[in-house]
Amino acid sequence: MGKKGKKTTPDNPKKEDPNADRLQKLLFAHCNQQLKDGVKMDEIINFLKNQKLVEDFFKKQKNPEAVSGDGPNEDKESKLKKGLRLIGKFNIIILFTFLLFLTALMGYVGVCHLLDVNPLKYFPKIQEKRCLIPVNQIIKEMARPLADCAYCSVGDPVIEMNEIPSKEEFLKVAYLSKTIIIRGGVEKLGIKKENLTIDKIKEIFASQPGGMKAVADYSTFTAFTSHFVYLEDALEAVSDDFIWTEEKESWYFGWSNEHLGASKKLRKLFPRPDFLPDEVDPTGFDWMFIGSPGPGVPMHLDFVKRPLWQAQMSGVKRWEVFPVYECESACPNPVVFTVYTGDIAFVAPHFWFHKTFVEGKKLSMTIGWDY
Ligand SMILES: [Fe+2]
Repeated sequence: MGKKGKKTTPDNPKKEDPNADRLQKLLFAHCNQQLKDGVKMDEIINFLKNQKLVEDFFKKQKNPEAVSGDGPNEDKESKLKKGLRLIGKFNIIILFTFLLFLTALMGYVGVCHLLDVNPLKYFPKIQEKRCLIPVNQIIKEMARPLADCAYCSVGDPVIEMNEIPSKEEFLKVAYLSKTIIIRGGVEKLGIKKENLTIDKIKEIFASQPGGMKAVADYSTFTAFTSHFVYLEDALEAVSDDFIWTEEKESWYFGWSNEHLGASKKLRKLFPRPDFLPDEVDPTGFDWMFIGSPGPGVPMHLDFVKRPLWQAQMSGVKRWEVFPVYECESACPNPVVFTVYTGDIAFVAPHFWFHKTFVEGKKLSMTIGWDY
């Protein structure tokens, strides 16, 4: 059998209030005495109603929850108030802890600075890391200094040359962050294209001590749109007689040649052009890119300090470049140019978002480095 619920009525309030009982008894005693003394009932009631405690008592007789303070609405309100008070206290504790931590950190750094002590030497694991937080494209973009839009708003964004410029001529345009194309530049520099084919480059890497694996270990391989995981696999898939057909997948990959021996051999076959400015860093790495017809590098901005040059050793590559966000309205957008076999292109990949597309049927292969 289930329990029978106790009915809540004004005569039978849910919660017994001992004070109300006492007050009730006192009131009855008081009223009896008053009546005995000849005071009229109406007068007694009017007098009593003017007393605060008694007024509450009468109200309680009509609605027990209205005066008691234990009603469900008040319960909810008081719980809400308590909750809010708790959250307020919690926030104050968090703020206080944060300020304490910040003060301690600033004090620690200040003391270390005064004593000329490097605090990180006590945390070798942190010191080994180049960055405390991983640096992604968004953080790099946030940290990028704003560009002066004159680089794309003043004059033609692409400068074409049909002859090899003198050092002085090239210096005038070298760091304007515009694209420079020297048509037929490879041949005009006296570079023999047949010495720098895909097969020859593979031979150069294979001839290094440790073979292709050494090159793969030291180099930065970027798969871009290809499925290749290692440079070795990628190079195995390409050759000078590779014929691309529409049924085959498109791929594009690149790598920086950080192998000293391979770099020396490459630079013997493609020496640094004389017209490049003297301030060029001679220790920069060579970058090579190979791609089949189809999409090349997807749209991106390179967070580098210097522009790059690329000699188009085989194939045809179309570039689409876009100014940085702050210059979008002031500059042509996009700028499209095509680089043919034997041309040399100079691009500022840190000022132009860029994507490429390999045209025709031949593999595209480029060699270059920054300047
Ligand atoms: Fe790039």
